[in-house]
Amino acid sequence: LGVIITIDGVAASGKSTVASGVARALGVPYVSSGLLYRAVTLCGLEAELPGGDLRVLDCLQAQPPRLQPHAEGNRVQLGERDLTEDLHATRVDEGVSAYAALPQVRAWVDEQLRALPAPFVAEGRDMGTNVFPQAQAKFYLTAHPRVRAERRSAERPEDLDAIEAALVERDTRDAAQSLPAADALVIDTGELTAQEVIDRIVAEVRS
Ligand code: CDP
Repeated sequence: LGVIITIDGVAASGKSTVASGVARALGVPYVSSGLLYRAVTLCGLEAELPGGDLRVLDCLQAQPPRLQPHAEGNRVQLGERDLTEDLHATRVDEGVSAYAALPQVRAWVDEQLRALPAPFVAEGRDMGTNVFPQAQAKFYLTAHPRVRAERRSAERPEDLDAIEAALVERDTRDAAQSLPAADALVIDTGELTAQEVIDRIVAEVRS
């Protein structure tokens, strides 16, 4: 009851696949914090604001995007509109770090996340450090950039080198909020299948 498990990690380290699998195994929802940062970014892009412009806060106040956590996959709703399919566009990938660097945006996202009823599995960059430091179990996923680019290439139109370069660039821009918690178990997912990572985490949580 009230249990929170955090899964953080670098870009395309497999966080959402693993979080979804762990959540299903435990029979709880998972919460994708990255989708909220992506939704903020889409709001900024659609309002035609320059990158990382604080006026995005006006959009968030006028019509806040709402995260809907499920074990199978998260969705984001803006009024009647479902934004989910638009949140993984390349322009969102490219614009998100500038919004995620704004303390006011981070505070807004944190507030949405902390309002969600536990139990759940939360995934992102700073779930175990800033947002849910009291979590019962914390994990941090890493993998070589090439491996991550190969995994993501199925979901993006660009070639492998371009995808890898963009991931490394985003890791650099997100570095400030991407430190593993001191009490997180770090897992290199490079040599493991998603199912192996899920099994490892579930075993750890149940032990
Ligand atoms: O799946 P991927 O790692 O590519 O991205 P994501 O988890 O959807 O996160 C998208 C972006 O949101 C990241 O590049 C960060 O800029 C930001 N983010 C963050 O700052 N803090 C979090 N807890 C989660 C995401």
